[in-house]
Amino acid sequence: MPEESTIVLSEQEREMMQRALALARSVEGRTSPRPPVGAVLVRDGQMVGQGATAPPYGPHAEVEALREAGPHAQGADLYVTLEPCCIALHTPPCTEALIAAGVRRVVVAARDPNPRVDGRGLQRLRQAGIEVALLDEDDPLARQARELLRPFTTLVRGNRPYVTAKWAMTLDGKIAAHTGDAFWISGPPARAWAHELRDRVDGILVGAGTARRDDPWLTVRLAASSERRPRLQPPRRLVITSSGQLPPQLRLLNTPEAGETWLLIGEQVPAERRAALARPGVRLIEMPCEPTGRVDLRQALQRLAAEGLMHILLEGGAALTGSAFDCCCIDHVAVIVAPRLIGGASAPVPLAGQGLPRLSLAATLDDQRTQTLGDDLLIEGEVCYHPSSSVAGEAAEGAKNLTRK
Ligand SMILES: NC(=O)c1ccc[n+]([C@@H]2O[C@H](COP(=O)([O-])OP(=O)(O)OC[C@H]3O[C@@H](n4cnc5c(N)ncnc54)[C@H](OP(=O)(O)O)[C@@H]3O)[C@@H](O)[C@H]2O)c1
Repeated sequence: MPEESTIVLSEQEREMMQRALALARSVEGRTSPRPPVGAVLVRDGQMVGQGATAPPYGPHAEVEALREAGPHAQGADLYVTLEPCCIALHTPPCTEALIAAGVRRVVVAARDPNPRVDGRGLQRLRQAGIEVALLDEDDPLARQARELLRPFTTLVRGNRPYVTAKWAMTLDGKIAAHTGDAFWISGPPARAWAHELRDRVDGILVGAGTARRDDPWLTVRLAASSERRPRLQPPRRLVITSSGQLPPQLRLLNTPEAGETWLLIGEQVPAERRAALARPGVRLIEMPCEPTGRVDLRQALQRLAAEGLMHILLEGGAALTGSAFDCCCIDHVAVIVAPRLIGGASAPVPLAGQGLPRLSLAATLDDQRTQTLGDDLLIEGEVCYHPSSSVAGEAAEGAKNLTRK
């Protein structure tokens, strides 16, 4: 397959692609298992149509933009964050809609990581006489587009959801006091930011220890000033429990109006304990366990992928996040550091689990960003596992290289 020609955009064209990226961001968490995409149609320097991926399984962004543009799509230029699809899955291929509408030129920020497309959409458009341009992969707009695609890339190439691990810790690295008390480590601005993050994912996952200790809601509660769009359904509330020992009065088990709760429960849990957890809004998903007796986390993630979940927010606690780190299943970290000290040798730290034996094997962060949120500091980045830290680490690094493609 021939390589696409890459281009440098004019200022006005950059604005159009930025608009397309903003549209894609606005539907994050609302499109799984399809990627969030934005598209803008421009004719004679004027925007004539725009669109974002509609909730599953509605029209793709390009088709929404074409619909808005109507006859003005003829001879227009399309700015789109992802290569138009050329295969019919739940909707007809976008390439055919663009050809039929008489679009003149298509500017694409990122190629489709789905091996079934991966350049074939661009090729089909070119065959039909449409001018096609792909942003240089080092262009900041192309980077932003690939960043938005990371969950989809992990799903289609890694067969599991993309996992963002988020925690709040004190300056001395504790996620709770030695008594287990964790309310609150971070301040209101950081907590408001965390709800924006929750709104961008398909599921919010905690270990049973956190469910038992904190009795969380795991709901999205956006500030009145938030610009996030409404969504058809809230993120799934997910709890992993090997033992099935969850107090029956937990909020997660008694608030079906706040969203579904899925319990990823060990296969050895006796039937009567399972029966005690079954109630409206609660779904039990039986999972195989490791020899240690704990739920096999990799298999649990694969199961969530099969259910169409593309981006999981892992919100602790120490044991579960540590297990996820040990099996190289954390893709992104978002850590809020609060300028407070709590001390205590037995106070929990963010990552329990086995850990790595040497500092030379430490995972590092790619695309690292920091931001202040009130008095707190947010540090975010893509986790890069040391290639020789484990076989799984190599696999994870391989997947990341594909994402950077
Ligand atoms: N500051 C923060 O951001 C933050 C966030 C969350 C939690 N926390 C704090 O963290 C503490 C709870 O952490 P924790 O370590 O005790 O519990 P946890 O990590 O929340 O949950 C551990 C439990 O998850 C279940 N599990 C099933 N499969 C597992 C696997 N493969 N690996 C690990 N766990 C698995 C087990 O449940 P069963 O026992 O049912 O088998 C296990 O006991 C609380 O004090 C909470 O306040 C802080």
